[in-house]
Amino acid sequence: MSYLLLEGDAARLPLADRSVDLVFGSPPCCDARTYGIGARRNCEEWVTWMLEVTAEALRVANNIVVWIASGVTRDRTYWPACEGLMWEWRRRGGSLYRPIFWHRVGIPGSGGKDWFRSDVEYSMGFKRKGELPWSDNTAMGHPPRWAPGGAMSHRLTDGTRRNQWGHSGTGARADRRKDGSIGGARRPSHRIRTTAEAEAADPAAGSYCPPKLANPGNLIQGIRVGGGLMGHPLAHENEAPFPEALAEWFIRSLCPPGGIALDPFSGSGTAVAVAERLGRRGIGIDIRRDQAEIARRRIERPHAPAPRPADPHESLPLFDRPV
Ligand SMILES: C[S@@+](CC[C@H](N)C(=O)[O-])C[C@H]1O[C@@H](n2cnc3c(N)ncnc32)[C@H](O)[C@@H]1O
Repeated sequence: MSYLLLEGDAARLPLADRSVDLVFGSPPCCDARTYGIGARRNCEEWVTWMLEVTAEALRVANNIVVWIASGVTRDRTYWPACEGLMWEWRRRGGSLYRPIFWHRVGIPGSGGKDWFRSDVEYSMGFKRKGELPWSDNTAMGHPPRWAPGGAMSHRLTDGTRRNQWGHSGTGARADRRKDGSIGGARRPSHRIRTTAEAEAADPAAGSYCPPKLANPGNLIQGIRVGGGLMGHPLAHENEAPFPEALAEWFIRSLCPPGGIALDPFSGSGTAVAVAERLGRRGIGIDIRRDQAEIARRRIERPHAPAPRPADPHESLPLFDRPV
């Protein structure tokens, strides 16, 4: 696969309209870091700048623009930078994807006495109106935890409850008892994984059809950060890298195989490296030339992939194939 690494400004991308599929990156967060280039903005300045950067990114994107970012707390006041950006974008007629929260686990002991430790980071998605040209919202999914007849139930419009066998009322309850057994008139099997298997076991299986893979939802868990967890040692040459597993989550879900993923704040090249591994083409742009050089070294010397976890429920896989 080919890749491209450039020195440049995210606000002026040297790319044609709709020439990439996904734009994915993490811009400098307000005044959190200067990156040696004076990249320091207060909340309002950041929102104004990011509106311009986002409009430019969406110009070159065919699919969607996703930013990983969080607000900061200054003088004991939270700066709602991400919320302000999404609100202003929407107020000006822009379209948004439902935010996805990355549970990354903050620094133990941080937070100060006035506030709680910051454990989540936003993934904000900016798009054109209407359906996305391409998405795979189960790319990072998992087998459903409950088969038809499992513990879940839902309410019909008339307010009555129905469990997944399609029986209304309380007769088909599938409550999990304190001792771990499952009660109810129709004993569900949580070992049955798919609708097809459930229907083979009972052709009268209910109205709810769990998919083969469950939608992973908008809380990303199990992706940790820190030494040895970022996917490549050169990630630490950037002041604020994100882990490869996070880039994988979005590239698999929102960039079609063979498509192009652009990170206009590419730093150590995390997103570009992951795009390459996943059979997409990566473009990385960073205002600092030395970061583009680090990214090039990283892509030319890929790290050994982390072993795939045995149970996909426990943590998300890092790579789908060896490099
Ligand atoms: C949070 S870091 C990105 C780290 C990257 N995701 C990684 O994993 O290494 C933000 C990057 O944005 C770059 N940057 C700051 N202002 C920029 C601008 N106007 N245009 C392009 N890059 C910029 C910085 O040099 C820095 O490397």
